[in-house]
Amino acid sequence: MMYLIAAIAGIAGALFGFDEGVIAGALAPLRRDLGIDPVAEGMMTAAVPFGAFLGAIVAGRLALAYGRRRLLLAAAVLFVVGALLSAFAFGLWSLTIARLIIGLGVGVAAMMAPLYISECAPAAQRGMLVSIYQLAITLGILGAYVVGYAFHESWRWMFAVGAVPAIALFVGIFGLSDTPRWLAVRGREAEARAALARMREKSESDPAVKAEFAEILTGAVQDENRKARLSDLIAPRVRPALIVAMGLFLLQQLSGINAVIYYAPTVFELSGFSSTTTQILATAGIGVVNVLMTIVGMALIDRLGRRLLLLIGFAGTAVALGVIAIGAATGSEMMGKLALGGLVLYIASFAIAIGPLPWVMMSEVFPLDVRALGMSVASLVNWGFNFLVVFSFPVLVAEFGLAGVFGLYAVVCVIGLAFTQWLVPETSGVSLEEIERHLDSGRPLRDLGRFTPRAA
Ligand code: BGC
Repeated sequence: MMYLIAAIAGIAGALFGFDEGVIAGALAPLRRDLGIDPVAEGMMTAAVPFGAFLGAIVAGRLALAYGRRRLLLAAAVLFVVGALLSAFAFGLWSLTIARLIIGLGVGVAAMMAPLYISECAPAAQRGMLVSIYQLAITLGILGAYVVGYAFHESWRWMFAVGAVPAIALFVGIFGLSDTPRWLAVRGREAEARAALARMREKSESDPAVKAEFAEILTGAVQDENRKARLSDLIAPRVRPALIVAMGLFLLQQLSGINAVIYYAPTVFELSGFSSTTTQILATAGIGVVNVLMTIVGMALIDRLGRRLLLLIGFAGTAVALGVIAIGAATGSEMMGKLALGGLVLYIASFAIAIGPLPWVMMSEVFPLDVRALGMSVASLVNWGFNFLVVFSFPVLVAEFGLAGVFGLYAVVCVIGLAFTQWLVPETSGVSLEEIERHLDSGRPLRDLGRFTPRAA
């Protein structure tokens, strides 16, 4: 059963990644067929993260009334429709609208999947499942790059392939029930108990199932009585957690990751790689390094700790971006090599830490009563800044060149170092309850893991 849930995480993550990555290979044939200017290109490309931003808001509002399962099904439908519409698009506008629809689906799925998992997974496996989600994002990106290589002449086929994982999501979810927690909140206790027993593969009368169900019921009742509000997030107790969660996503996105993920072939083109096939091949290499280093990051996350890993990540991305920026500014003859080496170092440093950690930490730092709300605000920050970077990249490059834009991202990574040093707590090996007690104590969140709050 847990494998099924992990598979849902996997498919939703892969959808997220595929839709980010597919445009990389599609842009060259699109430019050829539609002849678009930088503003139009930014708009059409960024329609996915913009739609996802809207989708995440809608999902946050509808999740209580309609449930996680039905929203995931709706997302899958949106996604199939969007993929087919973009495959048959007849111009820039229809493509932009199709991508907006895909984005809506991605936003809903990318929010509902982690929620579904966190409400169904046994506590001990939550962290692992969150990392699987990030790994699936990178696999989705790589899949999109491979599809871009295979169909390099036809953007229509690239988009059409995107319907496949969406159909898989629909079929996968169709056979599952909603989460025990949501069923309980809606007062459907018998169904909730049955769903929980099925997920734990035990009988309803099993003591462990009974105990867990009692806990779910108490939590559900508490939620009913005390609805988390936005103002709760800025209350002094929760604010440090909000700053860490939002800050990490803001830095993750402004480090320029999606300028690379969405526009890698363009970056290679600007660095002197003239053949489209070489550009896509180099891009696929970036996709492979992204997957592999995410796996390395998963292995290191609990050994090195969150903070050290983040410091390594931001240092690596800052150096890599700086090298590319200087190479581009000085018109170095070695620009091709610098760009390739720089981008490999960049993506490796990102994948090992800056990719997974914001997702992991957003599910750790918030106290239980505001966790869902905090996570949804944090993912809105993710999509909002994803949109900003993706939309602005073609325009900024046309205006300031690669050197200016990558230089800017490098500065953000240096700020990331300072942010981590001063504000990010060490949460590895600390239980969620301990984190919550620490927040309650009013001590700076950053002190967590330095002196243990257990004495309190
Ligand atoms: C980010 C995405 C990014 C991906 C790259 C994720 O953690 O949220 O925006 O494209 O990592 O692997």
